[in-house]
Amino acid sequence: MIKKITAVFLIFNFSFTIVSKADEGMWLPLLLKQLNESDMQRNGLKLSAEDIYSINKSSLKDAIVQFNGGCTAEVISDKGLILTNHHCGYGQIQAHSSVQNDLLTNGFWAMNQSEELVNAGVTATFIVRMEDVTSKVLAGITDQMGDAERDKKINEAIVQIQKEAVTGTRYAAFIRPFYYGNEYYMFITETFTDVRLVGAPPSSIGKFGGDTDNWIWPRHTGDFSIFRIYANKNNEPANYSADNIPYKPKYVIPISMKGVESGDFTMVYGFPGRTTEYLSSYAVNMIMNQSDPDKVKIRNTRLQIMDQAMKGSDAIRIQYAAKYAGIANYWKKWQGEINGLKKLDAISKKEQFEKSFLLNVNASNDARNKYGNLFTDFEKKYKELSILNKQRDYYYEAILGVEAISYTSSFYDVIEGLYAGKKINDYEKEIDKLKSNMKVFFKYFNASTDEKIAIALLKMYSEDINKKDQPEIFSIIEKKYHGDFSKYAQEIYAKSIFVSEDKMNKLFQNFGRNYKKISKDPMYKLMQSCYSKFLKDIKPQYTALDVDVTKLNRAYMKGMRELITDKKYYPDANSTLRVAYGKVNGYFPRDGVFYDYYTTLEGLIEKENPLVDEFMVSPKLKELYLKKDYGKYADKNGELRVAFCASNHTTGGNSGSPVLNGEGQLIGTNFDRDWEGTMSDIMYDPNQVRNIVLDVRYTLFVIDKYAGAGYLLNEMQIAN
Ligand code: ARG
Ligand code: ASP
Repeated sequence: MIKKITAVFLIFNFSFTIVSKADEGMWLPLLLKQLNESDMQRNGLKLSAEDIYSINKSSLKDAIVQFNGGCTAEVISDKGLILTNHHCGYGQIQAHSSVQNDLLTNGFWAMNQSEELVNAGVTATFIVRMEDVTSKVLAGITDQMGDAERDKKINEAIVQIQKEAVTGTRYAAFIRPFYYGNEYYMFITETFTDVRLVGAPPSSIGKFGGDTDNWIWPRHTGDFSIFRIYANKNNEPANYSADNIPYKPKYVIPISMKGVESGDFTMVYGFPGRTTEYLSSYAVNMIMNQSDPDKVKIRNTRLQIMDQAMKGSDAIRIQYAAKYAGIANYWKKWQGEINGLKKLDAISKKEQFEKSFLLNVNASNDARNKYGNLFTDFEKKYKELSILNKQRDYYYEAILGVEAISYTSSFYDVIEGLYAGKKINDYEKEIDKLKSNMKVFFKYFNASTDEKIAIALLKMYSEDINKKDQPEIFSIIEKKYHGDFSKYAQEIYAKSIFVSEDKMNKLFQNFGRNYKKISKDPMYKLMQSCYSKFLKDIKPQYTALDVDVTKLNRAYMKGMRELITDKKYYPDANSTLRVAYGKVNGYFPRDGVFYDYYTTLEGLIEKENPLVDEFMVSPKLKELYLKKDYGKYADKNGELRVAFCASNHTTGGNSGSPVLNGEGQLIGTNFDRDWEGTMSDIMYDPNQVRNIVLDVRYTLFVIDKYAGAGYLLNEMQIAN
């Protein structure tokens, strides 16, 4: 494309790459033909857009699965086998583990279909099709309309369109806003609910490097696990039944054994969760200078306490493994994000962009009327929002970081309803649900660890949040316990029923009578004070401001697309199906240092440390290494490659996504990003942002040579 260069565009281009350049962007599959096909082909794609997404024939999209709501997986056999990350299947692997039969530590392999493990509640969702419904959703919406009326009309339209789309089918439909509500797309989905665990490597492979290496390149983690989708006899979704049969997919991704070289075209097809690439400088300032640091500080404390408890007991280690990994993951990501934004000088880049945007705005009366006040409005709103955002962060991270409090809060609606005069019969369903949740909660709960966390977090809250903004209970703690949080916690953990499975069982034996005592329960009182403060003084104000800010963002987004037209704008990630494409490529993380684009088993062995859990290597893997028994999985020079990195723009939710070569063959499974590039959710930098991919040949090597489950390879389409 030949760029039209004007003074304004010069400033713009040199100041900030807010929109698509090279490898940036997460694109909507149905728009690839129009927006990306030729660019992708120029960069090495051999397929057509229609091969990637089609509603007329089976295409790659039919092999892409949203795994359990938060990850991606890909179909790799015509018997419903799907490949995702170890960390995506982690909860299921943990759920089947016990101290005696520790699948986390030992791994698991079904040696035939009857050995596969059934998982309650796991879902695998396919996208049947997607549709631009902007004009339908926004029909009758005018600029003069008030916010409340606008929202009401839009929501009514959404409900109606969704309903019409799927009535009489087995599908579901959802509509999401794109570009802050400038556009709307509908997704028709089919969700399978019988998804069984087929295999997972031991943590020493699947989580090698653990939290130390998490978000880090170079990487040696064999981060994969395998599941199988089951369907009823008609190949339709069905809940678990012994009669179910392996799902017959519409499309199976062939696997390449060729590996990758620097510069190769790659694409990632999956479900990125959330990015905010078009924020104002005021928003970025709030995130990097307040919100991220606050959340990091709170999680630091939680993690330290959990870590100690886990090191002291195997039972607690297994109980807390997934929770710990989850908390540690974003704790670390936010730190990388702060660093990356600083290094990019993100705020001043945004400010410069805003200046150049304003130049465009001021070039016409019409634009000035529409967008002239945008940044003064942003500034004002973010001043107010920052105060509430801090209270909200502390509520979610510090108050609800105490598990007993967040657990107790799940009783709030029922208990308050009953006290307000509702009948126990009105809540039958809710009470049943609370009862079944109880089992899960206590399976993963250790009261004395939580008590320690409560002491630390309540104290931190009382120190960091203005007195006038604290829930009433804090002044009671001050008066009655002279601010001694240990004493307070000791008392409530000793007396409350909510931290004891026995006592909770008794509650449920006769809920109708026993609930009456709950108002006196000290944990309930603590939760009640915090939660009602949140409901009364934080949530409504925060929500109102958030609505205002969204409205400003909608206008800003519209203005950018209207006034700066030599760019392609991709919509922020919102857990819908996207394609990212880029190139295999190393990078310079720091002055004088270059990171190559791939890692090997040799490098894994170099990291071995038998004294540190995260870096232990199993004897079997060591033996294969010593014998160089890599079979056909070795690279042409005899090395066994473990991982590679590329410049695809990805985010949380892309884990488990297939990484494909120009022919559309599987070359690896996406599982992470590099430390220097974790700010890509807010600002992408082609020089620093890399997605981290498990080389599929290592996956096959582990299945075949390490686990002896090579029979699974017979189901796959392996292209040589
Ligand atoms: N950072 C990766 C992602 O965001 C992997 C997280 C799981 N691994 C871990 N060590 N906690 O999900
Ligand atoms: N590890 C992330 C995930 O689980 C991927 C990322 O944030 O890059 O989706």
